[in-house]
Amino acid sequence: MPKETVLTGVTTTGTPHLGNYVGAIRPGITASRRADVNNFYFLADYHALVKSQSPEAVHRSSLELAATWLALGLDTDRAYFYRQSDVPEIPELTWILSSVTAKGLMNRAHAYKAAVDANQQSGQKDPDTGVTMALFGYPVLMAADILLFSANKVPVGRDQKQHVEMARDIAQRFNHNFKNLFVVPEAVIDDSTAVLSGLDGQKMSKSYNNTIPLFAQENRLRKLIMKIKTNSLEPGEPKDTEGSTLFEIYQAFATEREIEEMRRRFAEGIGWGQCKQELFEYLNEHLKDARGEYYRLIDDPAYVEGVLREGAARAREIAVPFMRKIRHAVGIRPLG
Ligand code: TRP
Repeated sequence: MPKETVLTGVTTTGTPHLGNYVGAIRPGITASRRADVNNFYFLADYHALVKSQSPEAVHRSSLELAATWLALGLDTDRAYFYRQSDVPEIPELTWILSSVTAKGLMNRAHAYKAAVDANQQSGQKDPDTGVTMALFGYPVLMAADILLFSANKVPVGRDQKQHVEMARDIAQRFNHNFKNLFVVPEAVIDDSTAVLSGLDGQKMSKSYNNTIPLFAQENRLRKLIMKIKTNSLEPGEPKDTEGSTLFEIYQAFATEREIEEMRRRFAEGIGWGQCKQELFEYLNEHLKDARGEYYRLIDDPAYVEGVLREGAARAREIAVPFMRKIRHAVGIRPLG
C-alpha cells in the first residue's frame, strides 16, 4: 500500500502558546516521526494576510512558528517543512481551482457568514462591508494547499472542518470536469487532544488575550502562571480538579502517576499559591531545553530561512510536475 499523506498548515499570526502546543504542535511532532506516513507541515503565510495587515507581525510570526517546530524536534529529514509563499504553485493552483468553485459554496463558509452576520447586527447597509476577496476565497487557497500534495488526511480543529469539506467538493468537481487528478482529502478531528483554558478560564486563544506563550522566558512564565484564575478556597480546604485551569494545564504535561498524586493533593486541600508554584516549576523544567533551542534559532534567522528554503525545494519536486499535469488537463499547454 502506498504511504498515507498527512498535511497540516499553521497560519502565521501570533506567537505559539501552550494551547497550540498541546492541541496541534505536540501531536504533529509525534506524527512527524512515524515512518509509515508522508508528513507535510507548512507555514500558511498567505492565509495570514487575510487576518493581519501588519507586515511586521506576519514576518515575526513566521520566524517564531518555524523556530518553535524546529526547537521541538520536528524531523525535517522525514517530513516536508516549508513556507506556503515559497511554493508559487499553490497560488497558481488556487486560481485554477477558483474556476471550478461555485460562488454559492463560498457563500456558505462559516467565516464569511460570520462577517456578514456581524455587519447585519451592527446595522451596516452593505452586508459585505470589510469583507475582502481573500477572506471570501480563503477556502480555495486552503484547498490548493491540500490538493497540490495529494493529502489523504488533514488533521484540523473543529473550526476548520468545513474548509476541508469544501476542498473535497472542489477536488471532486475538478476530477469530474477535467481529469481524475486529485485525491479527495479527509478531515481528521481528534477529540482526545486536550483543549486548554487560558488565564481567565475561557479557552486559551489569542483572540481572548488570555494565553501563556509556549516559550515565555522563565520570569514571565512564572508571572503568567501566578495570574491564572482560581476560586477563593483557602489552603486546607478540599478542591475540585474539575474546572481548575491549573489542574488542566498540569494534566496536559504530567505523567499518569503525577496526575493521580496531584488529584490527591487537591482533595487534601493544596493551597492555590503552592499549586501555582509547582505548576510553574514543572512546566519550566519540561520546556527549558526546547526554549533554549528556540531562542538560539530566533537569533539565527538565516539558518531558519535555509531550512525553510530547503523544505520548499523538496516540496516543489512534487508540486512542479503535478502542476504541469493540472495545467495540461485544463488546456494550458504548449502549442507545439
Ligand atoms: N486555515 C488553517 C487555520 O487557520 C490553516 C491552514 C491553511 C491549513 N491551509 C491549511 C490547515 C491546509 C490544514 C490544511 O488553522
